[in-house]
Amino acid sequence: MSPSHITFHRPDFGMEELQLVEEVLKSGWVTSGPKVREFEEAIKDYVNCPCTVALNSCTAAMHVALAGWGVGPGDEVITTPFTFCATVEAIEYVGATPVLADIDPLTGNIDPECVREKLSERTKVIIPVHYAGLPCELGKLGDIAKANNLKILEDAALALGSSLNGRRIGAHSDAVAFSFYATKNLSTGEGGMLACQDEAFADKCRRLSLHGMNRDAWKRYGAGGKWYYEICELGFKYNLTDIAAAMGIAQLGKLERANDRRREIAAAYIAAFRKIPFINPFQWDLSNEVVHNRHLFPLVLKLDALSIDRERFIEQLGEAGIGTSVHYIPIYRHPYYRDRYNFDSGEYPNTESIYSAVISLPIYPALDDEDVQRVIEAVKRIGFMHQK
Ligand SMILES: Cc1ncc(COP(=O)(O)O)c(C=O)c1O
Repeated sequence: MSPSHITFHRPDFGMEELQLVEEVLKSGWVTSGPKVREFEEAIKDYVNCPCTVALNSCTAAMHVALAGWGVGPGDEVITTPFTFCATVEAIEYVGATPVLADIDPLTGNIDPECVREKLSERTKVIIPVHYAGLPCELGKLGDIAKANNLKILEDAALALGSSLNGRRIGAHSDAVAFSFYATKNLSTGEGGMLACQDEAFADKCRRLSLHGMNRDAWKRYGAGGKWYYEICELGFKYNLTDIAAAMGIAQLGKLERANDRRREIAAAYIAAFRKIPFINPFQWDLSNEVVHNRHLFPLVLKLDALSIDRERFIEQLGEAGIGTSVHYIPIYRHPYYRDRYNFDSGEYPNTESIYSAVISLPIYPALDDEDVQRVIEAVKRIGFMHQK
């Protein structure tokens, strides 16, 4: 019998999620209400930040943060090309212009020196993305922001549970956007959260997330509520449901255990690949200041040591029953952004070289040790077979 396929990702939902979701369904209140407030408090306590706003995606969280600061046409926002399109979409939604700064080839994270080169009079915000969940150099980026009167909005879609200098991601910057999408370390199917420092800003983002309404439905239809509300500004429909929040509360209870298992799997990959001549030690040796939640395990090939390219490597892993992915197709390679901004891939040599060689291996708590060994054996076998 051929061994079963190891999928790239499998979510970890169980009785805890079922019980809390059942409670919500039976309660008669399924949209944003008490469970959303409870989930916001729980994430606030977990990351240790002053305020949180639950939203239906990380994209929405980034959009309301930029809108909440009044970023708009004529403004520039500096971010990395090595990210999902959502980061740049949020900049476009408010009519601002994305400016891309190249990455550090050892980490995949935005290089603060490249950010410095892209600053202009019009720069208003920097959006660092914690690639694979590894914290960016927030100290250096914070210094740049302070010296130039800029805001920092962290795209922490992948980084819940990572920390830097003893503080979790979520506690460091003006605003931090998390994703609870299907594949994330904490998943509500779809969902997001904005962590921020200032109650007035949080209130503004909360209003923007619900049509610009001054009183939400829970305040109107809950016990003692009044029916009247006013629209005070143009808003969006980005609120999270109590059903999703119930899943999030259950998932948060398991997050540390799940992240520990991810770190165990990452350690097994690193130990197995350390002496392999065709593998680049990307994101392996971390400084003591960093805790990595190992959301992704990016395997970076040394292409000049191999006679096959990344595509062929992925195909052969697929034939061996190993599901993989690639994070990310650089922003400047997508036709929409390339044509709109005339981006030139030659300006981003580090992103180009990592992108051409990276493969995301399976890493999630439901993988057992035998699965991990199968992934390792397949990578080694394919690589040694095609070594130059
Ligand atoms: C770096 C990054 N930012 C933002 C997002 C968007 O998250 P969401 O689907 O919650 O909007 C993703 C999604 O995977 C992502 O990888």
